[in-house]
Amino acid sequence: MAEPQNDPLLQPLPDGIVPAVEVARTEKRWLIAMVSLLIIMMAVVVFSGAMGAIHPPSNVERIDPTTLHLKGEFVESNLGTAQERDGSLTARLVAEQYAWVPECVKLAVDTPVKFRLTSTDVVHGFLLPTTNVNTMAVPGYVAEVRTRFTRPGIYRMPCNEYCGNGHHGMWARVLVVPKQQFPTLALTERTSCVQQ
Ligand code: CUA
Repeated sequence: MAEPQNDPLLQPLPDGIVPAVEVARTEKRWLIAMVSLLIIMMAVVVFSGAMGAIHPPSNVERIDPTTLHLKGEFVESNLGTAQERDGSLTARLVAEQYAWVPECVKLAVDTPVKFRLTSTDVVHGFLLPTTNVNTMAVPGYVAEVRTRFTRPGIYRMPCNEYCGNGHHGMWARVLVVPKQQFPTLALTERTSCVQQ
């Protein structure tokens, strides 16, 4: 007579129920697969960071984050909204702990808009609720997002990527004005939300 098995997991099972040994074997295989995937993903992160091969979600355009305020497209005087020859608008913002510069941009409704963003320090997130705008501002890269606002109003813009202790307070605004109103504004009023 066979030894009685005390371990309930090793008892013979009714038809259709997978024995514990088989379950353990399957779980071990899945565990190996999951751990391997984690190792591969971590290796990709470390490799792309070390080799400067990060691909931000929008496009790959590199910029030196240490000289943003000194020269080039993101100097202070060039931030905010600019009107292009074809009538479209470009809004340039710099993200830094813990503010967007400028804190508010003014844009026109029903007009092609291009956001160009970058960061001076860490990764920040740029999200405009109820629009298709949602990207990261990665130091060393320029993020570009295109959109068109269908309604005038104030769009509040939270930083959407945890960037440090002050992350929750990192808000900015996009002020969308009627299309006819935009050209009547003085240049200083068009490029920022500062009240004259
Ligand atoms: Cu900037 Cu979160």
